[in-house]
Amino acid sequence: MDIRVLRSDDIPHVQQTNITNLPENYFCKYYMYHAMSWPQLSYVAVDVSRPQKTPYDPPKIVGYVLAKMEEEPSDGVQHGHITSLSVMRTHRRLGLAEKLMRQSQRAMAETYGAKYVSLHVRVSNRAALALYRDTLGFKVDGTEAKYYADGEDAYGMKMNLDHLKPKPGDWDDEDFKEEETSGDADEGDAVGSLGKNKEEQELLKKVKVGRGLGVGELVEKNESAA
Ligand SMILES: CC(C)(COP(=O)(O)OP(=O)(O)OC[C@H]1O[C@@H](n2cnc3c(N)ncnc32)[C@H](O)[C@@H]1OP(=O)(O)O)[C@@H](O)C(=O)NCCC(=O)NCCS
Repeated sequence: MDIRVLRSDDIPHVQQTNITNLPENYFCKYYMYHAMSWPQLSYVAVDVSRPQKTPYDPPKIVGYVLAKMEEEPSDGVQHGHITSLSVMRTHRRLGLAEKLMRQSQRAMAETYGAKYVSLHVRVSNRAALALYRDTLGFKVDGTEAKYYADGEDAYGMKMNLDHLKPKPGDWDDEDFKEEETSGDADEGDAVGSLGKNKEEQELLKKVKVGRGLGVGELVEKNESAA
């Protein structure tokens, strides 16, 4: 079994896994939005034991975690959010969901400096609750009445990520140093001066991305509107 970052060509297969396992489904473009905006945060579990018969054989995706950074955090604190997680019935209780979650949480803290990660879970979902609370250490932050389209309540859960934040010296290991000083890197010196002088810097302006452009509406079933 291989756990690796979600690629855009995985998306139809991830969507299939999602539809098989959960009633909350999304358009392909919503997966794509995650993969393009926060490429480090979403992962797939691939069953590599199945031999690939042709080069066109798709990978057998048996689980995924779709995650993002909250774009407009209401508390003003930079944090990640788990949009969706599922593992195929045939591959459950192998530790895949735990691994997918841990990979994503680490990337949230290391790449985006996320202070915590949040998610919603159905109050009746015993398996997911056990995973989040007992295995991973999430805490229930509150209950949202009728959060889901069928009227079920959700627990809002959170987990602090401070313990995953990189500390000074974390990247000082010997292998890393060797690579930096080996001198045989073929990247060459930096070229060009674009963006370096004052005039060009003044030309740089901030542009709206994501929700500001209405991309938030891409979700097929807007859970938060339920
Ligand atoms: C919830 C789900 C993702 C768990 O996936 P998984 O790969 O089987 O989970 P793991 O093997 O990583 O389990 C880790 C721990 O979670 C808990 N857990 C997982 N499934 C459980 C179950 N059916 N009952 C009780 N505890 C469970 C256990 O503590 C388990 O550790 P253990 O196996 O050492 O006892 C999976 O059951 C699933 O896809 N369910 C349908 C979709 C879903 O509900 N997604 C979550 C939406 S919020």
